[in-house]
Amino acid sequence: MTLKWGIVGVAGIGASHAKALKDMEGVELYAACDVVPEVLDNFCEQFGVPHRFTDYGEFLKSEVEVVSICTPHFLHTEQVIAALEAGKHVLCEKPLAISVSETDAIVAAAQKAKGKSGVVFQHRLDPPVQAVKKVLPELGELVRGFYECHHFRTMTYYRQGKWRGTWWGEGGGVLINQAIHDLDVLVSLLDLPKQVTARLSNWGHNGIEVEDLATAVFEWENGAHFVVHISSVASALPTRLEITGNNATVIQEGRSVRLGRYTTPLRQFLEESPEVWGSPKAVWEDVPVDMSIPHGHKDAVQQFAKAILTGQEPIVSLSEGAKSVELVNAMILSHFTGAPVSIPVDRSAYDALLTELKQGVKRLR
Ligand SMILES: NC(=O)c1ccc[n+]([C@@H]2O[C@H](COP(=O)([O-])OP(=O)(O)OC[C@H]3O[C@@H](n4cnc5c(N)ncnc54)[C@H](O)[C@@H]3O)[C@@H](O)[C@H]2O)c1
Repeated sequence: MTLKWGIVGVAGIGASHAKALKDMEGVELYAACDVVPEVLDNFCEQFGVPHRFTDYGEFLKSEVEVVSICTPHFLHTEQVIAALEAGKHVLCEKPLAISVSETDAIVAAAQKAKGKSGVVFQHRLDPPVQAVKKVLPELGELVRGFYECHHFRTMTYYRQGKWRGTWWGEGGGVLINQAIHDLDVLVSLLDLPKQVTARLSNWGHNGIEVEDLATAVFEWENGAHFVVHISSVASALPTRLEITGNNATVIQEGRSVRLGRYTTPLRQFLEESPEVWGSPKAVWEDVPVDMSIPHGHKDAVQQFAKAILTGQEPIVSLSEGAKSVELVNAMILSHFTGAPVSIPVDRSAYDALLTELKQGVKRLR
């Protein structure tokens, strides 16, 4: 079997899809679609793609069997649903969509569709993240955590495209574009919290309307707290993830992962220790990080092709890929209402807020 693959949106990450697939057995780069003819022509010539379309509807009418959606965020919902309804397999770039009501519509369409579908979230495959995942069962009941994620972006980055840095085009700032990867890693490890409280600001990007700094507290049913601190304005800081459970703490910083096992579980020590000022000690060890496991964007795209070719499930399904949008929407809604937001997010409340943000009725500053 050879899959006839098509890519929609080819100026940026679309080329990475083509590079991942061009020499892959069982895949033929069959078609491409872009609204900018010269971008489309250059791409088709570079990758030897035989069928080119400037109209997405015509592209879907072709014999293309698998569609990579690599367009700006605001187009994902209509393009994913149209491709699913046309009977195609669909791989959508992150974020799955801008709002949770959109991700609901996509997931509903996928449930009725015949084709396989998935979202590109390559960072959950990162070897340090996989090392954290491996030791997670040792932690026991979740107590607290901290996640520091910085993705510096200049105004030149934002000037690359009109859709960037806008509520209508991007649906947010650092949260929905860059930190969506970190939030996806978090849900891949801990799933969704029960409640989110957040503050956002635009600290340093004059000329864009969305956030470049965000801090949130995620709360779980058992009272566990997790602090997430995200920015596109702080630099030279490592990504740092800490998760503390009743039995141990794991700390990931860059490629380093360390596990500290408590000599006595926290709850037991709290309850039973005769000491007034004592606390459980931790015995620390380095957790091996296997850099040879498949990871990165290329492997994530290839894994989706393999899932179709071998009948396996994609790594990140659409409903799994929707969870990070749930967190982003919860953080934005919490900021603008000044109140904690329960998960699942109130769909109509978020839609109403997004409409006001797009219209400029509500602003960050
Ligand atoms: N997984 C990752 O690490 C990663 C990295 C970069 C970008 N992305 C995601 O990929 C998507 C695209 O980002 P980008 O940086 O490549 O954007 P881009 O603006 O560089 O490219 C988007 C392309 O889509 C085309 N396009 C616009 N409207 C279209 C339409 N109606 N039909 C067909 N084509 C259309 C544009 O002409 C352009 O060629 C975004 O969702 C982004 O978040 C993911």
